Amino acid sequence: MDATAAGGAEGTAQEIRLDGVSKTYADGTVGVERLDLTFAAGELSVLVGPSGCGKTTTMKMINRVIEPSTGRILLGGEDVTRVDADRLRRRIGYVIQNVGLFPHQTVRVNVATVPRLLGWDRRRTRARVDELLATVGLDPAVHGDRYPSQLSGGQRQRAGVARALAADPAVLLMDEPFSAVDPVVRERLQGEFLRLQETVRKTIVFVTHDIEEAVRLGDRIAVMSSGGRVEQFAPPAELLGRPANGFVADFVGADRGLKRLAVTGISVDDLERPPVVHAADGLADARASLQAAGARWAVVLDDDGRLHGWLSGERAAGPGTVGSASHRMDAWVPVEASLKTAFSTMLQHEAGWVAVLDGEVFLGVLTPESLHRALRRSVDGTVPETAGAAVPAR
Ligand SMILES: Nc1ncnc2c1ncn2[C@@H]1O[C@H](COP(=O)(O)OP(=O)(O)OP(=O)(O)O)[C@@H](O)[C@H]1O
Ligand SMILES: [Mg+2]
Repeated sequence: MDATAAGGAEGTAQEIRLDGVSKTYADGTVGVERLDLTFAAGELSVLVGPSGCGKTTTMKMINRVIEPSTGRILLGGEDVTRVDADRLRRRIGYVIQNVGLFPHQTVRVNVATVPRLLGWDRRRTRARVDELLATVGLDPAVHGDRYPSQLSGGQRQRAGVARALAADPAVLLMDEPFSAVDPVVRERLQGEFLRLQETVRKTIVFVTHDIEEAVRLGDRIAVMSSGGRVEQFAPPAELLGRPANGFVADFVGADRGLKRLAVTGISVDDLERPPVVHAADGLADARASLQAAGARWAVVLDDDGRLHGWLSGERAAGPGTVGSASHRMDAWVPVEASLKTAFSTMLQHEAGWVAVLDGEVFLGVLTPESLHRALRRSVDGTVPETAGAAVPAR
């Protein structure tokens, strides 16, 4: 990603750096003490931690709703600690807890807040607002002229996200944006939000106290303890696999091994390569291949490498072709899936292995043993890139 250049164009994701930032409130309360953190451009960084640990304080110092007591804040390499705060805020989208839509304004007017401040003309504003409403899953014709009280909780949330994105900000700050909606809606909003982030690729700082949400959404997660101390700042798989200390281990929970499955991808190097036979082969040849490999079953492919099914040793006998004797193969996952998806597919089909496909091309299989190996490897940080790995020879 080349979006880290200092002073990048409007809308280009920018790095946020907190350099020795502290906040001591007027009554002497230490909100945050000497924070050094860098949120990479285009990444979604999550702040998690117990109530009162300084998450909101940290976030509000980035757009200077709260002025830091010490330290510097750099946006795309530019020190913004002392620039005009109103102008700074127009470069930063902000979704606050409980959304904070203006109740006496329609959804359209709410979403147009920053473009209006920036002096965009009506047509440009209108087009942008309608485009964004559609992007977040609201129908401009249906919801655009409603007031916030005439929307569901999830719809209000989407409108809040649209408003924060309106002027294509370099940075998006989100303080517990999904906490006010029920778990089912929250999960849907999280999924939509992840897809949205794939297209807009903003630098996002996201506050939550829900570790599940952090793990699902975050590229990196900062676990904070009271006084704004950062106990660990790491990608989800590393946080779950190697908590830096007892505080982090307690915070991520005793079931962190299970949570880790969900955030660990399949690596082609982890796959096992059972014998491969082809649907058009004769059964006698297939039996010979199985015997040569000392295997009890083989994967059956079409001539073009697509998964056809599997063949058990018992059925590899007599005349006829492999295709006529093979079993259907329903236990498969795309190579982009997580280990959790692979594991649950295996359970769902009561299978001892699951095939891994790249598009329609067969790459290999995962068994409980190779899943376990993959999980262990993800923590050693030695997982190789999946791209460019060879498709097994036929
Ligand atoms: N204006 C203020 N004056 C004095 N102390 C404050 C002020 N605002 C926040 N604090 C204190 O600073 C600390 C950090 O507060 P902050 O709002 O950042 O916590 P948080 O991590 O966002 O908590 P929560 O999860 O409950 O939202 C808390 O001890 C809080 O009481
Ligand atoms: Mg807070």
